[in-house]
Amino acid sequence: MKKIPFYELKPGQIVAEDVFKESTLLIPKGTVLKSSDIKRLRSHGIKIVNVYDENDFIEKKIEEKISIEFENIPPIVEEETYNEWHQHFEFVKDITYLKDDPSELDSLAEDIYKKFLKTEDVVLNLFHAIGNEALNSHSINTSIIASIIASKLNMPDVFFDSLVKTCLLHDIGYSLIGKRVIFDYIDLEDVTVRSHIVSAYETLKNIQKNIGKEIVDAISTHHERYDGTGIFMRLKENAISPLVRILQIGDAYDSYIEIGNSPYDAMSFLLRYSGLIFDPYYVSIFFSIVGLYPTGSQVILNNGKKATVIKKGKTSSFPIVECDGETIETGMETGLFIREVLKKGE
Ligand SMILES: [Fe+2]
Ligand SMILES: [Fe+2]
Repeated sequence: MKKIPFYELKPGQIVAEDVFKESTLLIPKGTVLKSSDIKRLRSHGIKIVNVYDENDFIEKKIEEKISIEFENIPPIVEEETYNEWHQHFEFVKDITYLKDDPSELDSLAEDIYKKFLKTEDVVLNLFHAIGNEALNSHSINTSIIASIIASKLNMPDVFFDSLVKTCLLHDIGYSLIGKRVIFDYIDLEDVTVRSHIVSAYETLKNIQKNIGKEIVDAISTHHERYDGTGIFMRLKENAISPLVRILQIGDAYDSYIEIGNSPYDAMSFLLRYSGLIFDPYYVSIFFSIVGLYPTGSQVILNNGKKATVIKKGKTSSFPIVECDGETIETGMETGLFIREVLKKGE
């Protein structure tokens, strides 16, 4: 038996203890949960339910789904928290729930942005998942990076809220059509890329009052480009919502890594397309947070040794690295510099 939060409840699970609201029995022990039971529990504000857990199989499977990008560097958030977000997102991306009640989107967005309201030192070591779960990680990682940028700008809470919701739902179109282009920043003519925008708009516009018009508009325009060469509307510069312009930094960075590139290459991509795809202002904010060599970049120092970047140092070009088990600040004082950046797997 295990206690699980309402957002993890799934049809088919078996209730292990009677669920009461005050003295009314809502669901008796032994009930095999149906979607309507789960909705009923949620509508009565039941937060935790005991369900049978025969062999712990489900839990183990969930843990195996996510993996940290760089083993020896601390993760951006505790694995347990990330896992919870990951599972919670299963509900958020389910349009039938979103249609009825957006409170799960509200609570997941709040959980995420509250972690990053005041971010000082950023160690951008993200988790990723593969297969059907990959969209969960990508949506959460995009939210994390966007939150870090917004925190640097001291945005009000209400902006964080809209931003994270936009990030969480930005690629929901892929989940609706059951197909995904992981890195969707180059070929805007691709039919799947175009479809994920259209299907998201067609679906979300009907529930606009639940999630907010500015969020639906931002999702529908998240492949506009700063220079006006984007998809469908061809919006330009400030005509593109700041929600989109911030989202795009996290979105492109995370998905470029997801297709096998290094963090250094992902940062280089943002810099190369700054002013073309991306708003240079937000690129520069992100650059000022993580530097030229983001966390996890593999480098060769001028003493010939291999090192891994842990985080940004005092300036963008001189990061703090880990080399032979030691933490070293590159720069004038130590006389150590980055001579070369290695490709992933080198
Ligand atoms: Fe997209
Ligand atoms: Fe995306």
